[in-house]
This record gives sequence, C-alpha cells and structure tokens, in this order.
Amino acid sequence: MSNRIFSGIRPSGKLHLGNYLGAIKNWIELQDKPDTEQAIFAVVDYHGITTPFDPKTYKQQAMDVILDYLAAGLAPKKVLLMRQSRVSQHTELAWIFNTITPVSWLDRLPTYREQLEKSPKYNHMGLLDYPVLMAADILIYKSNVVPVGEDQMPHIDLTNEIAKKFNSMFGQTFDPVKAHLAEGARIMSLQEPTKKMSKTGDDGIALSDAPDVIREKIKKAVTDSGKEIIYDPEKKPAVSNLLTIHHLLSGKAIKSIENEYFGKSYSEFKSDLAEVVADFLKPFQERRKELEADMTYVEDLLIESEEKAKEMAQKTLDEVKTRMGLL
Ligand code: AMP
Ligand code: TRP
Repeated sequence: MSNRIFSGIRPSGKLHLGNYLGAIKNWIELQDKPDTEQAIFAVVDYHGITTPFDPKTYKQQAMDVILDYLAAGLAPKKVLLMRQSRVSQHTELAWIFNTITPVSWLDRLPTYREQLEKSPKYNHMGLLDYPVLMAADILIYKSNVVPVGEDQMPHIDLTNEIAKKFNSMFGQTFDPVKAHLAEGARIMSLQEPTKKMSKTGDDGIALSDAPDVIREKIKKAVTDSGKEIIYDPEKKPAVSNLLTIHHLLSGKAIKSIENEYFGKSYSEFKSDLAEVVADFLKPFQERRKELEADMTYVEDLLIESEEKAKEMAQKTLDEVKTRMGLL
C-alpha cells in the first residue's frame, strides 16, 4: 500500500534533541521509503498560537523550524514543507469537523488538561479545539501515516473517531490513520528526567547549541543515586536517558556502552557523551548556516511547496463540501 504521510511541529522555539529523535529522524527515514507516495511536514503555526507566543518573533520562529527541518535532512525534492496558516483549507476543514465533534471528546484529553495547568489564563476555545485542527491537518491530505511521539497518541485516536463519524454521517471519505512511533519516542529532560525534554532552560539540548553549551548542559544534567552506569528507566531514569541519547546518536548498543563505562565515573561518561552529541550536531549546524545565507532559496521553496499542498487540500475540501451539500 502506498502511504501518505503528514506531521507537524509547533514553532515554539528552536528544535531540541527530543524533537529530532522522537520525530524528525523518523520523518527522514520515511521520506526515503519506496511505499511513501507523498510526505508533508508542516510548521503548525495555528497550533502554536493556542499557548502564549510573541508576535514580534513568531514569524522568525516558524522559519527557524523550517531551517531545522532542511538542515536535519528533509529533502525538498521528496517532501512538501509548509506553514499551516498559509494553507487555509486546514482551518476550513477544522470548522466542519467542529460541527460533528462532541465537546466531551475534547475536554477529557490529557494534553488539554496539562496545557491548562501550565497556562490557566489560556482556557479558550482554541486550546480545547486544538486536536480537531490536528485531525484536519492529517485528513485534509487523506494521510494514513502520522509519525509522532507517543504523547500524541490520544490525538491520533481522536482523528480516527472524527473520520469514522464523518464517514458514517456523509459517506465513506476517510481511511483509518496510523501513528508511526520512533524508537527514541521519549527523550527526557536533563534536569527532571521523569518529564519529557522541552525547550526551556537547561532542560534540553537545542539542535543549534554550540559545543560549549552542550558540554555545560550535559555536565549539569542530574544523575541518580548509586554510581553504576546502567540502563534501568524505573530506578535510574536520569542515567537511562543519557544512555538512550548516547545509543541513538552513536549507534552503539546500550549494552556495549554500559560495558565501556563499567567501573568508570559519571563525569567521564558525561564528558564523552557531550562529544558524541557535539559531533553528531556539527554537520547539521554547518548545513543550517549555509541555508541561513540563502534565504531566498528557502522562501521560494516554501511558496512552491505550499502551492502544491493547497491543490491537494482543496480536492479533499471539495469532496467533503459536496458530500455535505455545501457545494
Ligand atoms: P512539540 O515540540 O511538543 O510541538 O513536539 C513536536 C514533535 O516532537 C512531536 O511529534 C512530539 O511528540 C515530539 N517530541 C517533543 N518532545 C519530545 C521528547 N522529549 N521526546 C521525544 N519526542 C518529543
Ligand atoms: N499536536 C502536535 C504536537 O504537539 C503537533 C501537530 C499539529 C501535529 N498537527 C499535527 C502532529 C498533525 C502530527 C500531525 O506535537
């Protein structure tokens, strides 16, 4: 079967290792698969405005994510890259889905509850409705494979519920959607290893962090009690997370890293890990610099990509509107 792939990331700051290992690495593998018919990767800037953001830097933040995508290895010849707000068919389909989605499907979602706890003042319709727009992002291209981190599973389930409900009300239109989870599906914070790595402070390593910054952050990363460097996410969440990062970036098996550091100190392990991370990110950072120096190329590529996305999206929207008696 041929696959149509869609995924997106909010422009809430520079991308970090968690985004790369939990999402983009997976996307790069998918773009090269022979059964991938079409892959679309978005900066979901309409999702980004459901939580606090700065209008002065927002446009640049969206562009930063596009630059990170390209530098990480997403190939514009193979995939479409786009800014969600530039393809208005997404929000149009989201409105239609709003009319068939019970509020009770949304207000019980863990992602909504968590966000509300973080920014209680932002209890608006957009935050509640976030997953409906995500369902529209996916279904507007009739995508069937969605590479995301495991935290997004409730949203994928909801997408399927909405698709099923639409089909039952207006006739078979959407096929089921599958999440595609990466091996490094959950990279944890360096400071609080029971929480996932995010963009705040020393919590995470940005893909664009300089080697010195990387060394500093890894040096400051919390460790567990007991000196052994062993993989045990239950009892030793901090060192297990560091071992996972090492494994995913160096390609060495976790067992062999454990053996390498048997009887050695945390500080030795950490300083070697910092070099693994810095070496891994070096080519990425070089490519990013080249792209930054050629922004017309990046902007032209985006516009062309968005035009193609609009065409595909409009086809689905026309079909949906016809089925509903709107066209
Ligand atoms: P976000 O930055 O929350 O918009 O997430 C963008 C993508 O990266 C989603 O597919 C997330 O599941 C994934 N992601 C974000 N943080 C992590 C993390 N710490 N570990 C693994 N994947 C993550
Ligand atoms: N909700 C996703 C996140 O927080 C971002 C997102 C929006 C997305 N629309 C999407 C992911 C469509 C995959 C497909 O990470």
